[in-house]
Amino acid sequence: MRRKRALLTTGILAGALAAGMAVALAPAASAGTTLRAAAAEKGRYFGAAVATNKLSDNTYATVLNREFNSVVAENEMKWDATEPQQGRFNYSGGDRLVSHARANGMSVRGHALLWHQQQPSWAQGLSGSSLRNAAINHVTQVATHFRGQIYAWDVVNEAFADGGSGGRRDSNLQRTGNDWIEAAFRAARAADPGAKLCYNDYNTDGINAKSTGIYNMVRDFKSRGVPIDCVGFQSHLGTTIPGDYQANLQRFADLGVEVQITELDVMTGGNQANIYAAVTRACLAVSRCTGITVWGVRDCDSWRGSDNALLFDCSGNKKAAYNAVLDALNAGGNNPPPTTTPPPNNPTTPPPGQGGCTASVTLNSWTGGFVANVKVTAGSSGTRGWTVTMTLPGGASVTNTWSATASGNSGTVRFTNVDYNGQLGAGQSAEFGFQGNGSGSGMTPTCSAS
Ligand code: XIL
Repeated sequence: MRRKRALLTTGILAGALAAGMAVALAPAASAGTTLRAAAAEKGRYFGAAVATNKLSDNTYATVLNREFNSVVAENEMKWDATEPQQGRFNYSGGDRLVSHARANGMSVRGHALLWHQQQPSWAQGLSGSSLRNAAINHVTQVATHFRGQIYAWDVVNEAFADGGSGGRRDSNLQRTGNDWIEAAFRAARAADPGAKLCYNDYNTDGINAKSTGIYNMVRDFKSRGVPIDCVGFQSHLGTTIPGDYQANLQRFADLGVEVQITELDVMTGGNQANIYAAVTRACLAVSRCTGITVWGVRDCDSWRGSDNALLFDCSGNKKAAYNAVLDALNAGGNNPPPTTTPPPNNPTTPPPGQGGCTASVTLNSWTGGFVANVKVTAGSSGTRGWTVTMTLPGGASVTNTWSATASGNSGTVRFTNVDYNGQLGAGQSAEFGFQGNGSGSGMTPTCSAS
């Protein structure tokens, strides 16, 4: 079957064969006939970078809307586009993309809040605390403007150096202090608590000095509670793919972050289809790999000039690489992601946390002590984190807490989710508990969700 398929190039014949094969080969699950449908069956999204001025091109829009259920702005949400003069924001391109996404059931990746390239000239002329303040203000303003519309933001793009150092790249942002990245992530979280916050970079396609430098940063952020949810692997590939591509994704996933393929394109040549398929299989094999984005629709839309690096030719026809990706998506292996595919951008669905949460407590008391079990239930929009506040009776104190982190141990105590139980779907519950001295009677928990 595979050989037969490879002999066919494009068009109606291949489509008819694909439909026939779906019946013949896949009696159980239906094989998706578009990238978006096939990815969705595996709990993933399949996205493309979009240049909004092409949305009026019929061929372009037809392929985009048929095949993709996620979009990212190729340039329109970058710093030079969104804040051309300091403090004057222009969201026209980004807004256009968001409404196109909403109309076509697509989620949106945001790209990119801070980057050393495509900075407006006024920012290039700043340094020190004026640049730091301007950068953080940029993050806050842009993430606030798009609040609730963005599935995942590339908060920081390409901050690590190429080569063997494993360290940061020199840039005006880096010269404001090594903590600029975490300051950006904290500002983004405060501005849009519902968006997943990603670090995004290239030349990270295997286990190498650069990806290890990033890995160490992510591990450090997780251990110190700096808000980071995902790592983007741009995956601008040549004619080979490192053998440890999947292992590299997996080691990041094992830190508890989502991984995403964010800017995939592959140099043309004998291996193009195989490399596209290998990337797709790697993502399906890593349960926390939630989706793939290709950096453009047709070869002629690509920033890579004559590399013919994408899935569709300049007329919008499917290439062999397209069939290879679709086949890989429809093939057996799958490690479903822990959460469902991001819902399409839908203004009637409030961002996580806005539907609130409730908490109830059951007590097991004895003279001089008690154990409290607390059940947290997410409201209508789910949570990405929660805090339960309880006022203990006078004389009582917390001695031990599990499945939450307590701040304070007497009077009003705040219990916050730990890594693995903060994210709850609508109506889902998590439990935590604590032991105390004294009497725990009469405690009333209040819950707040983020
Ligand atoms: C590229 C765009 O595709 C071009 O149109 C633009 O001229 C330069 O930037 N890594 C990234 C992307 O994170 O933002 C870049 O996009 C490609 C490399």
